[in-house]
Amino acid sequence: LLCVCVCVCVCVCVCVCVCVCVCVCVCVCQIAELVVDNSRSADGQVEGLTDAFTELEFLSMVNVGLSSLSKLPCLPKLHKLELSDNNLSGSLETLSEKCPNLTYLNLSGNKIKELSNVEALVRET
Ligand SMILES: *[C@@H]1O[C@H](CO)[C@@H](O)[C@H](O)[C@H]1NC(C)=O
Ligand SMILES: *[C@@H]1O[C@H](CO)[C@@H](O)[C@H](O)[C@H]1NC(C)=O
Ligand SMILES: *[C@@H]1O[C@H](CO)[C@@H](O)[C@H](O)[C@H]1NC(C)=O
Repeated sequence: LLCVCVCVCVCVCVCVCVCVCVCVCVCVCQIAELVVDNSRSADGQVEGLTDAFTELEFLSMVNVGLSSLSKLPCLPKLHKLELSDNNLSGSLETLSEKCPNLTYLNLSGNKIKELSNVEALVRET
């Protein structure tokens, strides 16, 4: 379990100091749905996602400016992937390895010119 915590402390000092802290923690491997639509990827790569997101079932990255999926981590439980309005053009074959449980993929508004790129998604059984 990978948890990220943010704590804010407020101290009041009059002769002695009294501090009050509030922490908010997010445990990433429990996240099942993640939507990062319209945020910008600086270099066209998937950012911030790690292998710790093992519970992720739905991921939406609409209009993020993605040109490559090479940094997409392994997401074994991912069922639904929204990638519309990005800059994806090349091969998508790594997707079937990284997301073996994928049942829905939206690639509308990308630059995929050849259907053969999509054919690579069909796993040989
Ligand atoms: C898409 O990629 C091209 C180069 O491959 C680049 O010129 C263009 O700015 C990119 N568009 C977006 C929306 O990132
Ligand atoms: C697909 O998802 C099911 C249920 O979430 C899981 O048990 C299984 O391990 C996943 N398949 C793969 C290849 O990871
Ligand atoms: C795919 O995404 C586009 C743009 O976000 C949306 O208009 C379209 O309805 C989606 N297609 C499906 C089958 O959900």
